[in-house]
Amino acid sequence: MSPDLEAIVAEARSAFAVVSDPAALEQVKARFLGKSGVIPHLLKGLGGLAPEERRESGARINAAKSEVELLLAARREAIAEETMQSRLREESLDMTLPGRGRGRGSVHPVMLTWRRVESIFRSVGFDVADGPEIETDWHNFTALNNPLDHPARSMQDTFYVDVEDEQGLPLLLRTHTSPMQVRYARGHTPPIKVIAPGRTYRVDSDATHSPMFHQVEGLWIGENVSFADLKGVYTDFLHRFFETDRLEVRFRPSYFPFTEPSAEIDMKFSSGPLAGRWLEISGSGQVHPAVVRNFGLDAERHIGFAFGSGLERLTMLRYGVQDLRLFFEGDLRFLRQFA
Ligand code: DAH
Repeated sequence: MSPDLEAIVAEARSAFAVVSDPAALEQVKARFLGKSGVIPHLLKGLGGLAPEERRESGARINAAKSEVELLLAARREAIAEETMQSRLREESLDMTLPGRGRGRGSVHPVMLTWRRVESIFRSVGFDVADGPEIETDWHNFTALNNPLDHPARSMQDTFYVDVEDEQGLPLLLRTHTSPMQVRYARGHTPPIKVIAPGRTYRVDSDATHSPMFHQVEGLWIGENVSFADLKGVYTDFLHRFFETDRLEVRFRPSYFPFTEPSAEIDMKFSSGPLAGRWLEISGSGQVHPAVVRNFGLDAERHIGFAFGSGLERLTMLRYGVQDLRLFFEGDLRFLRQFA
């Protein structure tokens, strides 16, 4: 092979080596082997030579051509191999991993409580009602004997919405389920016996308060529904909810604008990890006559009781959960324990 043929082969080798994709390789191939490429050009030049010289030169050029073809084939193969290896790296599959199966959710612990509370109260004749979470000032406060300038309003830190109702007052996220007393009672005739579980909101956040939480409201209005009935119904509920009669219940005087008298309901387990401690579980009371009138009823004739209990609180006590925030973090290690 003459020195210039050697140079051509060497040039082809390094030109093939620097490209790394098939299209670019074909371009380089054209430069050496294509119709107007370097080697065919040399072959065309043979025509003008003497037969002896032509044979010899032709053999050398053809040898160079085969060498370039071999280099090309080798580079093609190498590029194909590199492409496959890099795809394999990207799409690597570990065949030894276990299958994922289909992820199965479970009911959130607070929802377990919600359902449980519903079924217990349904079983003693309570209807279950649902209502808006964005409320009017009137339903959330005023109708519940909590007028605009009443200091008791500051018992609840409220989220207001930038929309006004017909009275020019901002709508708000209900701070309790108590407005459902008013909504339900105004749409039904006594006897009224209802619970209303749902989401409630306050500007509050720590280990025992979250800005969104759940309550269940209870209301029983008739012609002679007394505080004694409240005690009976609620004590029975607690025994069934906690599946034990080994708990004491006490009604501790308290204040709510919408009840008179008002009581905080406390309970005490006599066994288990919380034994011996009084735990606050619910607000309650005889519905205030002003509220009964806002129900559209005759307060001389219709009386009854109401209560409002926190569903997170009931859930924490039932399962021994210490920090309320666990309910809202979505940590599967926590949630799986209730599945
Ligand atoms: N709405 C009260 C609160 O969120 C709880 C409450 C107290 C509800 C007494 C009632 C009740 O129905 O009678 O703090």
